[in-house]
Amino acid sequence: MRLAARCEQGLSQRLYVALRGWIESGELAAGEALPSSRQLSHELSIARNTALAALDRLAAEGFVVTRPGAGLFVARLALAGAIHQAPIASQERQLSRRGEDLLADSALSGGHHRAFAPGVPALDLFPREQWQRLLRRHQQRAPEAWLAYQSSGGMTALKTALCDYLRLSRSVRCTPQQILITQGAQQGFELIARMLTDPGDDAWIEEPGYVGAQVALKAAGLSLTPVPVDAEGINIDRAPKGAPPKLIYVTPSHQYPQGVTLGLSRRLALLEAARAQGAWIIEDDYDSEFRYSSPPLASLQGLVDQAPVIYVGTFSKVLYPGLRLGYLVLPEALVEPFQRVNARVNREGQYAVQAALAEFIEQGHFSRHVARMRRAYRSRQAALRHALVPAVDQGLMLSEGHAGMHLLAGLENVACEQALVEAGRARGILLSPLSRYFTGPPTRAGLVLGYAGSPEIEIQRAGGWLSQAWIDSIGPASG
Ligand SMILES: Cc1ncc(COP(=O)(O)O)c(C=O)c1O
Repeated sequence: MRLAARCEQGLSQRLYVALRGWIESGELAAGEALPSSRQLSHELSIARNTALAALDRLAAEGFVVTRPGAGLFVARLALAGAIHQAPIASQERQLSRRGEDLLADSALSGGHHRAFAPGVPALDLFPREQWQRLLRRHQQRAPEAWLAYQSSGGMTALKTALCDYLRLSRSVRCTPQQILITQGAQQGFELIARMLTDPGDDAWIEEPGYVGAQVALKAAGLSLTPVPVDAEGINIDRAPKGAPPKLIYVTPSHQYPQGVTLGLSRRLALLEAARAQGAWIIEDDYDSEFRYSSPPLASLQGLVDQAPVIYVGTFSKVLYPGLRLGYLVLPEALVEPFQRVNARVNREGQYAVQAALAEFIEQGHFSRHVARMRRAYRSRQAALRHALVPAVDQGLMLSEGHAGMHLLAGLENVACEQALVEAGRARGILLSPLSRYFTGPPTRAGLVLGYAGSPEIEIQRAGGWLSQAWIDSIGPASG
């Protein structure tokens, strides 16, 4: 008998693997006696305890049985043959229809394409040392309760700090109790859909709009009705007449990806439509801190008393997405049910991180970081604009860029999009086509150009390439 000479595995583990392999392959047949630990120890020159540990494990897992006085025998398993048959489900990709749908909407993100990746903040400028210091301190001092299951909707200190911030800077009407801490906006959308809708219900979404929210609503079995976005944001007058929606998802401060702001009369009409139809509005306020020519706009949630709005916030843009922290501001009647179900379905946790974040906000680091990022993004946007001047001079249309972390470059049609996306891919530059944000046939084409995540030098280089690529794509100058 020989054991695989893999030194990274312990002797007992190697013996276990070898014996189990022989049982599974039938080399050791059902009912056959196994060598005793004494024999194995002698034959393999290993300690008897090492052999015993391997045999004990095989017995505990049911591969061998002990007959008192006689020793160990290979177990007779009714479905022993099944071990050798390839389990179908793990060999073939058999997703549900919903799984296939979700997969189609789930382009991989991440990777090392920083230039133009939309929605990625300046990770290079995040104050890591300061943050690590706070994290370490709270992790070291964590009371036992933070290690247990929690069900309070998040840490009170964080909810209080957030509430002060939201009241002041976003005109959100709330008390700390109305805040529910989630693992990012995405989990918030999922929870809202689960709690307020049933499969088959209708949700209105912006067209074009944020794919993450669309995916969350689809995953809950909702039927999505795209409502066109124009220069003033979502236009509910153009919503198809049909079953009233249960949810209306909007990005009023800075429409994603078109970048427009929902005007006041549209806001009031939206609130009225939601009320009349018994729908809840999901206000996704993902990047409103980054407004360059005026102070951040007031939220839709705070516009009128008792607005039928659930405000969704995230730290993914203002800090970093890997933090996975976001929050909901819930109307009072929904606080207790959401909190209880969230603690059951998603579980709460990361209280030390929440405590560090509360202190980060209380001590003013958060506001300072946001102010610094606002300046950085403004100059990153300027670098992109500058790099695109040759193309703009020849007719490339760029969005105004008063806010946010991306610019939109208009293109003639989807074929132009596709050609530039392919050319960018060959250069390692990520270009996001506007058509991808439509659920139906795209009525506009363009590129969503994230500029926040890359240093100026990278933006200039990638922007210079894009400018030339666009000029080449339109052929010889017509003038
Ligand atoms: C429109 C919009 N909402 C929300 C988010 C943030 O989602 P999360 O908090 O799940 O990272 C993003 C991130 O890309 C976004 O673009």
